[in-house]
Order: sequence, then structure tokens, then C-alpha cells
Amino acid sequence: MSICLSAGAFLVFPQGGVSLELQPSSSEVLLNSNSNFTVVCSGWSQVTWRLPQDSQVDGVIVENQGSSSILKLFNATWRNSGRYTCEEASSYQSREVDIFIPGQSPEEWFVPLFPGVVMKEAEEDTIPCVVSDPRLNVSLYERPSRTPVTRMTYEPGRGFTGRLNDTSYVCLAAHGDQETESQVYYVFSIVGGQTEIRSDSTEYPAFLESLGGVVDGAPTGDSTVLLGNFNAHVGNDSDTWRGVIGLPDLNLSGVLSVIGLLC
Ligand SMILES: *[C@@H]1O[C@H](CO)[C@@H](O)[C@H](O)[C@H]1NC(C)=O
Ligand SMILES: *[C@@H]1O[C@H](CO)[C@@H](O)[C@H](O)[C@H]1NC(C)=O
Ligand SMILES: *[C@@H]1O[C@H](CO)[C@@H](O)[C@H](O)[C@H]1NC(C)=O
Ligand SMILES: *[C@@H]1O[C@H](CO)[C@@H](O)[C@H](O)[C@H]1NC(C)=O
Ligand SMILES: *[C@@H]1O[C@H](CO)[C@@H](O)[C@H](O)[C@H]1NC(C)=O
Ligand SMILES: *[C@@H]1O[C@H](CO)[C@@H](O)[C@H](O)[C@H]1NC(C)=O
Repeated sequence: MSICLSAGAFLVFPQGGVSLELQPSSSEVLLNSNSNFTVVCSGWSQVTWRLPQDSQVDGVIVENQGSSSILKLFNATWRNSGRYTCEEASSYQSREVDIFIPGQSPEEWFVPLFPGVVMKEAEEDTIPCVVSDPRLNVSLYERPSRTPVTRMTYEPGRGFTGRLNDTSYVCLAAHGDQETESQVYYVFSIVGGQTEIRSDSTEYPAFLESLGGVVDGAPTGDSTVLLGNFNAHVGNDSDTWRGVIGLPDLNLSGVLSVIGLLC
């Protein structure tokens, strides 16, 4: 699930130690709309592709064939842009290819891949504002003050990575004099952290909505692990939270509450 990815599952290995091979081997590919593209990943044991999207999307097919796996993009659109990662479970190795299919208008710049909630588990984390065109100028702002955030690393196929505060952020993409804003991303720490989004804040309804999106995206049947000290913020608000989370018996006065960590 995306939140697991955003919490640092992008394992990077020193090039020397990687036995996985991609054909073609480029780590960045720029495609035209409606074109087809195939990448073959080969390793020593079972390999498969992790897609930028959570769920199956049109135009992307993965054919696993044991120690090789074929990623096929058919009739690609800007929505198929993002980081595709080939993983070999037995060796914990991975290789990535960032595939971009530039959108034609600003509405097609930010790829809607992730719900707007980033669960921060480590010091560094990622705001996943992935763009369909790596040539765009993308910048990050802390909301609602619109303070520009510097000292973050931007990768068009991944987003902004660095030390995030527990607050909300928005990305801005510009090309010439055209520009557009991404969705809002809410960051909060999972372990021992405190979210700054309080129930009396104007951010709160939107925050709940995006949280609802996270939970709705949970695979049905998976158990939902409740983590994070939301008590301070939720306390009084259990009816709202019940609606969002859809667990009728959730005891919100408990110490640990809220939110599936959907790994
Ligand atoms: C992409 O593949 C489909 C199915 O094989 C084919 O019909 C189509 O012509 C291909 N498109 C291009 C641009 O090659
Ligand atoms: C490719 O997508 C276009 C619209 O984006 C559609 O008109 C066309 O039928 C699609 N072609 C195939 C082979 O699916
Ligand atoms: C986090 O907050 C500190 C203190 O307000 C600020 O200096 C820093 O730039 C913020 N970092 C990010 C990534 O927003
Ligand atoms: C990105 O920003 C740089 C510096 O401000 C500017 O020179 C360049 O033209 C911009 N590129 C685009 C595509 O807007
Ligand atoms: C719950 O909300 C009421 C009214 O909105 C307020 O008076 C009360 O102090 C709140 N209780 C807690 C535990 O936050
Ligand atoms: C909810 O949890 C609190 C703290 O653990 C406990 O005191 C309370 O009895 C629980 N309420 C219900 C309805 O289970």
C-alpha cells in the first residue's frame, strides 16, 4: 500500500551489489501518449514489479515468469507515469525505472497516485507529488502559511524527500507561466508523534476526508492495525471518526487509536 511505500520502503542498493537486470536498462524513460513500452526484469530467483499505483490500472500488465518479469504499458496515458520497481524478494534487491508520459495540460501534471496522508515513521519521509513530466519545475510549500520548503530532494517519479514536519504541504508545478497545485498532503508521525491537525482547525474536515480515502483503499479482509496517538485530537469526536473509519466498535478513548497501517 502506498503509505508503506511513502514510509521508506524504497530500498536503494549500491549499484555494485545489484544482480537484477532491466532491459532496456535506462532508469528514466519518456514516452508519448498512447505508445506502448515493455521492460523485462531478470534476476536469480522470483522477481516481480511494484507499480506506482495501488491497484490495477488500465494499460499496465505484469507478466511474472519466475526469475524474470515483464512490465508492459499499453496505450500509455499521463496517469501511468511514476516509479516502477522490480523487486527480488529473496535478495532484497530492487531496480527502478521512472516512466513519464507528459500530460498535455496542467490538470495532467500531478499524477493522482496516493491518498493525501503521509504516515511518517522515520526522520525522513516523502511527499509523493509525482509529476507526469520530469521537465516541470516543482516546488514544495508548507500550508497554510505557504512557506517555501527548501533542503528537500525532489525526484519527479517519487516526490519530495527529507525531514517533514507534522503539518500539511502542497506542491506547485510550473512550466513557463503556467502553473498548478497538487492535492494537499497531511503528514503525521505514527510512533510517539503528535499530529498538529486539531479538530478545531480549518484543516480538519479535509484531513478526515483524506484519511477516509486511505482507509477506503484498504484491501478488504486485511486486518486494520490501529496505530498512532490520536487521542488528543480525536477524543470528543468519536462519531466523526466512526464515520470515517467505519468501525462501529472503535473505542476512541483508548490510548492507541485510529488508522490502518496497511502493510
Ligand atoms: C500498442 O499495442 C497494441 C496491442 O498490441 C496495438 O494494437 C497498438 O497498435 C500499439 N500501439 C503502438 C503505438 O504501437
Ligand atoms: C488508446 O487510447 C485512446 C484514447 O486515449 C483510445 O481512443 C484508443 O481506442 C485506445 N487504443 C487501444 C488500442 O486501446
Ligand atoms: C519544519 O519546521 C521548522 C521550524 O518551524 C522549519 O524551520 C523547517 O523548515 C520545517 N521543515 C519542513 C520540511 O517543513
Ligand atoms: C525552471 O526554473 C528555472 C529557474 O527558475 C528556469 O530557468 C526554467 O526555465 C524553468 N523551466 C520551466 C520548464 O519552466
Ligand atoms: C468536548 O467538546 C465539548 C464542546 O465542544 C467541550 O466543552 C469539551 O471540553 C470537550 N471535551 C474534551 C475531552 O475535549
Ligand atoms: C475504552 O478504553 C478506555 C481506556 O482504555 C477504557 O477505560 C474504557 O472502558 C473503554 N470503553 C469501552 C466502551 O470499551
